[in-house]
Amino acid sequence: MASSLSLNNNPLTALFKVITPPPPFTGYEYDGLEYRWRMFVFRPSLFKTESFLLAGILFYVLIFFVGKSKNVKRASTWLNAHMALYESQFSKPTTSGLINDGFADFFNYSTGRRNVLSLHTVFALVPRQDLVTSLYRFFYGQYDFLYKNEDSVELDFTLASNPNSQHFVWGIVAKEYLSKVKENRWDLTFTRTTESPLIGDGYCVMSEFADVSENLLKAEGPFNLSKTLNNPEYKQYIKSLTITDQPREAPTMPIPSEKRERHLILSLRLPPGSNAAATVPLVKAIFTLVDTLDAKLNLRPETKSKLRKAREELDEKMRKELEAEKKEEIESDKLAAKRKAEEERISKLSAAEQRKALDRDKKRAMRKSQNKVTKKA
Ligand SMILES: *[C@@H]1O[C@H](CO)[C@@H](O)[C@H](O)[C@H]1NC(C)=O
Ligand SMILES: *[C@@H]1O[C@H](CO)[C@@H](O)[C@H](O)[C@H]1NC(C)=O
Repeated sequence: MASSLSLNNNPLTALFKVITPPPPFTGYEYDGLEYRWRMFVFRPSLFKTESFLLAGILFYVLIFFVGKSKNVKRASTWLNAHMALYESQFSKPTTSGLINDGFADFFNYSTGRRNVLSLHTVFALVPRQDLVTSLYRFFYGQYDFLYKNEDSVELDFTLASNPNSQHFVWGIVAKEYLSKVKENRWDLTFTRTTESPLIGDGYCVMSEFADVSENLLKAEGPFNLSKTLNNPEYKQYIKSLTITDQPREAPTMPIPSEKRERHLILSLRLPPGSNAAATVPLVKAIFTLVDTLDAKLNLRPETKSKLRKAREELDEKMRKELEAEKKEEIESDKLAAKRKAEEERISKLSAAEQRKALDRDKKRAMRKSQNKVTKKA
């Protein structure tokens, strides 16, 4: 009796009791669904949490593939509808097919045409493949009414320049996109936004000088830009048309003349697949605009000189800022060098002299701060 008790109290036994897992629960007969294969048994009802998790993951993956293929289809439908036009315009299709950057951004690059160095067709689609972002965008859209959760396509023409080319920033913007268009477009800060009877309702004009707008919107010959942009077949898809000689992002230094670029950017809401060809006549008209742009512009000499002056002043301002920055840098370098030299000098002195020098510095600093206080008072 006594010996068995002592066995039970044996700390080792107690330890074993703790670390041995309890025997599997076999108190009742399992009568649910069960799969058996040789020695393996799978009882689904024991994996409820896991099955919810698995269903969630499968759903996420499904959304990914469906969303991705829908996006590819959206972009390629539009591009295919415009392909005949593109191919008639460009001699060198350098890339084949859409290039994707992620699963919601696609682009196509075209080059080899007179008056155009290149055309980037850039699709920015709703991230249908990404459940979390889609939900976030949806709810954000409920909260911010100006926010538009929609597909868009941008045609960014880099224009060839000749000595007669005029350099200016100008644009036509659909009113509902006015607050959004200035985002990420530093170049548009050059302009003032107005309404104009030349373009009519629904649009605003962004221009540096009225003379530029008058030149671009006055109809001469068969091409009437105002009429083109007001065509009801595709007007609903136009977000903006901009012509610019300035970069989208603020430069930090004057751009050398060989690196200056002129762009014509047509920004559209992507038409639905069933109406993908609606914007073909518009894109065709834009090619005409590109070709007639330099000839059409007959700016007054004072407008030309004002445009030139605005650019020169900007360059001058940037140059001055750079210079000031450089000067500051040199000053602070000088100061650091001086401090270092002083430290080196002190380190060469004897211990007593070092202490004296430190005391002197401290007193000087204190006097300085006191002076400041009394000055303020
Ligand atoms: C653009 O993509 C299409 C296919 O979608 C391709 O045929 C074409 O070569 C690409 N480039 C140009 C310049 O159109
Ligand atoms: C150009 O089109 C607009 C319509 O948007 C029209 O009001 C204007 O008269 C047209 N100009 C010419 C010269 O046809």
